[in-house]
Amino acid sequence: MGSNGSMPTHATQDGVLNTMLIALVACDPNGVIGKGGHLPWHYPEELEHFHREILGKVIIMGHKTYLDLPKRCLKSSIPYVFSREHTIPEEEVTRVEEVEEIPPSEETQYVIGGSEIFDLYFKKGKIDSALITHIKKEYEGNIFFPLHFVATWKKKILRENDDFIIAHYFPTC
Ligand SMILES: NC(=O)c1ccc[n+]([C@@H]2O[C@H](COP(=O)([O-])OP(=O)(O)OC[C@H]3O[C@@H](n4cnc5c(N)ncnc54)[C@H](OP(=O)(O)O)[C@@H]3O)[C@@H](O)[C@H]2O)c1
Repeated sequence: MGSNGSMPTHATQDGVLNTMLIALVACDPNGVIGKGGHLPWHYPEELEHFHREILGKVIIMGHKTYLDLPKRCLKSSIPYVFSREHTIPEEEVTRVEEVEEIPPSEETQYVIGGSEIFDLYFKKGKIDSALITHIKKEYEGNIFFPLHFVATWKKKILRENDDFIIAHYFPTC
């Protein structure tokens, strides 16, 4: 495992790439991740962690998350956006409608939300691990991370400060 908590992608015996997919999220104790289309909080150190993690990587998100994501995150990564509409500027991102449209890569890929896209990937059993920033304070919000998917997973705490704890979750198999 890398120092940033990510794992290398591995090839199966027949040489097919088996891309590692990490769910990357920050949520409050109740699973809140968003309010009115935005993050409910502003923690610069958490944003730096997010930005460092996705640097140069494939990031996979829903249309609403794309609209709220700082432009520098789009420019410094390889963004794929789920949308059934054709309003997204395709020079900025790649629009997709199916999980299978995103090509596998040797590098770990990050599923960054929002809630609809986390649901989609967890339900398909595609998430290999979850890198979760647990914000300590409770916030009001209307969008939630589906914490139940990782409730039985093994948890390794990577970092803690006054505001949040970053933990890496792995399925127990
Ligand atoms: N705290 C965090 O770490 C974090 C992370 C990410 C997001 N957020 C927050 O979460 C909120 C956004 O999350 P959300 O759940 O409302 O929206 P979302 O998952 O970002 O985007 C939903 C949109 O994605 C498209 N979509 C979803 N499923 C699809 C499918 N199967 N095929 C094609 N397109 C599909 C649809 O776009 P079209 O309508 O264009 O078809 C849908 O309206 C924001 O408040 C954001 O700030 C927080």
